[in-house]
Amino acid sequence: MQARPDKPRLAWAVTGSGHYLEECLEIIRDLDDVDIFYSRAGEEVVRMYGHDPKGINHKGRVYRDRAASSPPVGLFYRGDYHSLVVAPATSNTVAKMVLGLSDSLVTNVYAQAGKCRIPSIILACDTEQEIDTPAPDRIVRVWPREIDLAHTHKLRSYEATTVVENPEKLLAAIKVRLEEVNQQAIDVAETR
Ligand SMILES: Cc1cc2nc3c(=O)[nH]c(=O)nc-3n(C[C@H](O)[C@H](O)[C@H](O)COP(=O)(O)O)c2cc1C
Repeated sequence: MQARPDKPRLAWAVTGSGHYLEECLEIIRDLDDVDIFYSRAGEEVVRMYGHDPKGINHKGRVYRDRAASSPPVGLFYRGDYHSLVVAPATSNTVAKMVLGLSDSLVTNVYAQAGKCRIPSIILACDTEQEIDTPAPDRIVRVWPREIDLAHTHKLRSYEATTVVENPEKLLAAIKVRLEEVNQQAIDVAETR
């Protein structure tokens, strides 16, 4: 297992969504203390859009979905992470999270973060009735199904979970959370 970081970091899970992918990678690039967790589809889709999954942020670690039991979840129990971001989150991953399934790396980190009371911020792909989304070679119009929208809506009610609708709101939510974490660290240092 990896050495424990000096202070808790941000865990960022990327799933196999073209929608909002570029915007999410842009945010990840600018972050300092972030480790990336790819779903199997996430790793593939990132490549399809012309990116190297290992080259998004050179300052952090990269975990890929290779094992049945998702060993990196142990890092959440060890205290390596203060928060989890799942962005972009596919219809598939959101549906599994809503059902409480944990059969892949990304659904496992969401489930285990919850069990460790680590807050999660989710950027769901399916928040609008109609979206224009980038395929690798063109823009396509899609109409998320009622069930997809219902899952996104239901996830909002889950504990330790914030669901955001677009990359601007995602960035704002991350900033708020990072400020909170910094303030907590200052408060702890002051009580020593
Ligand atoms: C190029 C490409 C773009 C895709 N974009 C989306 C998307 O925007 N939203 C979505 O829900 N699924 C999208 N998919 C389908 C998912 O990758 C697929 O459902 C996959 O099983 C999701 O697995 P994951 O949730 O474990 O990442 C895309 C697939 C491809 C090949």
